[in-house]
Amino acid sequence: MKKRIAIFASGSGSNAQKIMEHFKYSHDAEVSLILTNNPEAYVLQRADNFEVPSHVFDRHEFYNTDNIVELLNRMQIDLIVLAGFLWLVPENLLKSFPNKIINIHPALLPAYGGKGMYGDRVHKAVLENKEEESGITIHYVNERFDEGEIIYQARFKIEKDDNLEMVKFKGQQLEHQYFPKVIENLLKRVEGHKITD
Ligand code: GAR
Repeated sequence: MKKRIAIFASGSGSNAQKIMEHFKYSHDAEVSLILTNNPEAYVLQRADNFEVPSHVFDRHEFYNTDNIVELLNRMQIDLIVLAGFLWLVPENLLKSFPNKIINIHPALLPAYGGKGMYGDRVHKAVLENKEEESGITIHYVNERFDEGEIIYQARFKIEKDDNLEMVKFKGQQLEHQYFPKVIENLLKRVEGHKITD
């Protein structure tokens, strides 16, 4: 039985794209669902291109109902991947999927994490502080922003004349290179929904 992945994304979804590409012909896992809080998000187009079903929700549905948990259970999701998703995950979801929700962050946590630290803001802060390196972090999700246990980090060097675009590009390259592989490795350790049922 294939392991089933759900991806939450709020924007472009370039990571979601790489993950869908990676598992498109896999016998072991598939991207079964894309979820977003943003009806304009380009990730919805990407989901359509891969014929992956999608679900758009709003704040009320996410925080005040069990609809999303029920949907994920109904779809027998094994792993939840946050890829550019900016809302805090509510308790009902964390409780229903313990150790099965992961996030990617565009910096070397615990540095440059926390509320309000996302996307370009992270890279700008890194540049302002004249850091010599930055990187990516893949981590478990808990009830606080960017604080769950770290699963994987990769780093890159910041050259003297690197600007925002360059740092962003270097980070994105690492995300695209490693996120799908880390997910694949994690799934080997997650018991399938059929086994745990
Ligand atoms: C990624 O760089 C991801 O690390 C970041 O949002 C971007 C989404 O890009 N996430 C955060 O900043 C979370 N705090 P994408 O939509 O092209 O995958």
